[in-house]
Amino acid sequence: MSLLEVEELRTGYGALPVLQGISFNVEEGQTAVIFGLNGAGKTTTVNCLAGVLPTWSGEVRFDGKKISGKDAPGIVRAGIALSPEGRRVWPGLTVMKNLELGAWVRKDAKGVAETVEQVFSYFPRLDERKDQLAGTLSGGEQQMLAIGRAIMSKPRLLMIDEASLGLSPKLAQTVFQVVSQINDDGTTVIIVEQNVGVLPYADQALIMEKGALTFDGRGEELEKSGELRKTYLGEGAE
Ligand SMILES: Nc1ncnc2c1ncn2[C@@H]1O[C@H](COP(=O)(O)OP(=O)(O)O)[C@@H](O)[C@H]1O
Ligand SMILES: [Mg+2]
Repeated sequence: MSLLEVEELRTGYGALPVLQGISFNVEEGQTAVIFGLNGAGKTTTVNCLAGVLPTWSGEVRFDGKKISGKDAPGIVRAGIALSPEGRRVWPGLTVMKNLELGAWVRKDAKGVAETVEQVFSYFPRLDERKDQLAGTLSGGEQQMLAIGRAIMSKPRLLMIDEASLGLSPKLAQTVFQVVSQINDDGTTVIIVEQNVGVLPYADQALIMEKGALTFDGRGEELEKSGELRKTYLGEGAE
């Protein structure tokens, strides 16, 4: 059984359908990357999985249990956290407060404090800036905070939408390396990316086009396939 099973998932906005009935699985302990041009439906997919958007039809199972139909807090409680597109940290709150609020589902104060320390070990920059207002952080630091806040709920599955958007290539690599470490420490990861620099970290690669999945395979397969690279990643990606 896969940790995440997505079956014929459909959703959209108002009367407008976006996801055409997509199906894919993610195995426990893996890193899956979702590629695709702007407007392909990547954000719609992770927002639907996170319970931010309603499921029109289809089913999502997590650890064998149906989770489609749950609201966003219910999905977090089930063990899935999203670092949303555009970061959306709380600008008027400190780094520490942002992290603490990310742990709202947890009641074990000691465990929460330990996770804060773990976030600081992943991102020492956040430790240095823990009393600073999040709105005064650089873009890269805000991305670190958004990821850190997501892992404060101790998810089994971490989803990151546009992990490297707007970051320098060097900072993007730093973020990918930390995400890879979070994965090594036992968290299953889904990353939405347009930067092919993430490929070495991908066990599984998915490509979306117009609300449908057009590729689902091993990261190496996609990496080796010059054709796929050209067709799907040649334009609109770095
Ligand atoms: N809030 C919204 N209202 C209406 N349409 C939307 C909304 N958000 C996204 N869409 C549409 O859904 C489609 C997929 O968008 P999105 O999931 O954001 O793509 P991606 O993340 O791959 O760039 C696009 O056609 C987009 O215009
Ligand atoms: Mg998007």
